[in-house]
Amino acid sequence: MKATIFSQVSIDGKLTLGAGQSSKPLFSLFEESDLEYIHKFRGLVDAIMVGKNTIQTDDPMLTNRYEENKNPLRIIPTSQMDIPLDSHVLADQGRTLIVTTENGQDAHKIRVLQERHKEVLICGENKVDFADLFHKLENDYNVHSIMIEGGGFLNWNVFDQDLVDEIILMQLPIIIGGENNITLVDGKGYNDLSFAKKFKVVDVLPRKNYTLLHYRKAV
Ligand SMILES: NC(=O)c1ccc[n+]([C@@H]2O[C@H](COP(=O)([O-])OP(=O)(O)OC[C@H]3O[C@@H](n4cnc5c(N)ncnc54)[C@H](OP(=O)(O)O)[C@@H]3O)[C@@H](O)[C@H]2O)c1
Repeated sequence: MKATIFSQVSIDGKLTLGAGQSSKPLFSLFEESDLEYIHKFRGLVDAIMVGKNTIQTDDPMLTNRYEENKNPLRIIPTSQMDIPLDSHVLADQGRTLIVTTENGQDAHKIRVLQERHKEVLICGENKVDFADLFHKLENDYNVHSIMIEGGGFLNWNVFDQDLVDEIILMQLPIIIGGENNITLVDGKGYNDLSFAKKFKVVDVLPRKNYTLLHYRKAV
């Protein structure tokens, strides 16, 4: 599995204007060609994954709106299974896979999702085991590349399991601040440098509205 973290961040690494807020206002700083870049990247991968909070705050479609029939499989991990039924990923006709846990699964909620032709996978006991998930995606869903679009909690979990191959950031030239805000990677963090996840710089490309930063896992 090739896993890419793909995100729009401020200079100070924030993903949004404050915890619990949608990241959509940040997108007003991009122009059409920037949005096209994001969408066409979605057309290059087999799957796209965001955390449940991102569904609740942003209600993204997670589709490729610039190319016909090139939408990735949408994957949402959740232990609570409380994704709003009117969210785009559950309400539209596109393919969505909800991944939950042994202890989080709820037969009624699973039935409701399946009636909407959404797929459900159990992976892990109390939290989704992303290594196991990636293995199942490759073997059972023909998914060999995945783009992970955040937020900070989901990103932490995939970095912590050492599953990220590359990072692509569209860094907006703004500072947002806020000590409780969401950043590219939140979670527990590492207070010892030897545990920090290490990447190599591949490219730093100035664009009109942002800087494109590309990193690859250091081997
Ligand atoms: N700028 C950008 O590019 C961008 C992109 C995406 C999101 N965002 C912003 O990021 C914020 C949301 O980030 P966030 O860190 O609060 O939340 P998040 O990462 O979007 O979602 C966290 C939730 O996902 C589920 N999850 C993640 N890992 C799991 C695991 N291993 N097992 C089971 N469930 C798992 C859990 O749901 P349960 O509670 O059900 O267990 C968890 O509470 C929003 O404000 C959004 O606007 C910005």
